Amino acid sequence: MPELRLRVAETTDLTPVVRRLVLRDANGSPLPAYEPGAHIVVTTPAGHRRSYSLVDAGGARPREYVVCVRREAGGRGGSVSMHDDVVAGTDLVVSAPANRFPLEPAPRYLFIAGGVGITPIRAMVRRLRGAGRTGVRLLYLTRSARETPFLEEFDGPEDTVHHSADRGQLDLWPYLAVPDDDVRVYCCGPAALTRTVRTLTAHWRVSRVHLEEFATGHSGMASPFTAVWAPDGRRVDVPAHLSLLAALRRDGVRVESSCEAGVCGTCRLTLLDGEVEHRDSVLTEGERVSSVVACVSRARSPEIVVGPHEDRKPA
Ligand code: FES
Repeated sequence: MPELRLRVAETTDLTPVVRRLVLRDANGSPLPAYEPGAHIVVTTPAGHRRSYSLVDAGGARPREYVVCVRREAGGRGGSVSMHDDVVAGTDLVVSAPANRFPLEPAPRYLFIAGGVGITPIRAMVRRLRGAGRTGVRLLYLTRSARETPFLEEFDGPEDTVHHSADRGQLDLWPYLAVPDDDVRVYCCGPAALTRTVRTLTAHWRVSRVHLEEFATGHSGMASPFTAVWAPDGRRVDVPAHLSLLAALRRDGVRVESSCEAGVCGTCRLTLLDGEVEHRDSVLTEGERVSSVVACVSRARSPEIVVGPHEDRKPA
């Protein structure tokens, strides 16, 4: 993926933990095009590679890329570096935009955003409403008004902003009970939200439902498990604070990686046995049956059996 060196032109705190960063070319040159749903991979000053959705509507010759970074104090350090080490004037290496969550044409839309999952959804809603479209319904779920980036933008007749601290979880069933081929559902947010939407849309046509689970540090939510490395049967303990990728490497298994954020697929392994909680944004549902992305995904079962992926087996 081609890389660019961009300068942070502005930073703004949208909430106590979400910071907006504007990146531009230092000479003011236009940047590579992107469409709503696109993301860039940023190398943080501390050396992590993290994927961030572009929050604006995109176009052919954008002058800037705008991303929002939620500080994950218990995460793996990437977001903390983006908050603590980046100021206006910092130069960052970023990838050209890629898009695994593209906005497909439809007569109407239902967007469901959870927390900072609003970022790609905002790009889509702005693109559609900017073109004068109606039938662009938004459900935006956050804990409280104080923790809601871009709150002031979503007060229209087709917007529902729901704060769980005030009113508990929003029941999504009334919005999803009746499948409609004229509607595309887009959902971006934490794993629990995308799982719920996947379950509640099981009776929808698969092509009408688009889910994007954003990667977080997951610290504190992870359970330890054992990974069996199939080629030699070695048993690798994966503690809660280590990724599968890191644990395999610690025990001498060579696994290639690149983004370490679940977006490039370089660290994909073959899944031979066990149940996985998939946290990547790269595998299709079909691929998830027999693959696991080692940098972000974890076992649901006490033990999983993995091996090199077909593409990466030694000749
Ligand atoms: S290294 Fe990119 S998906 Fe794991």
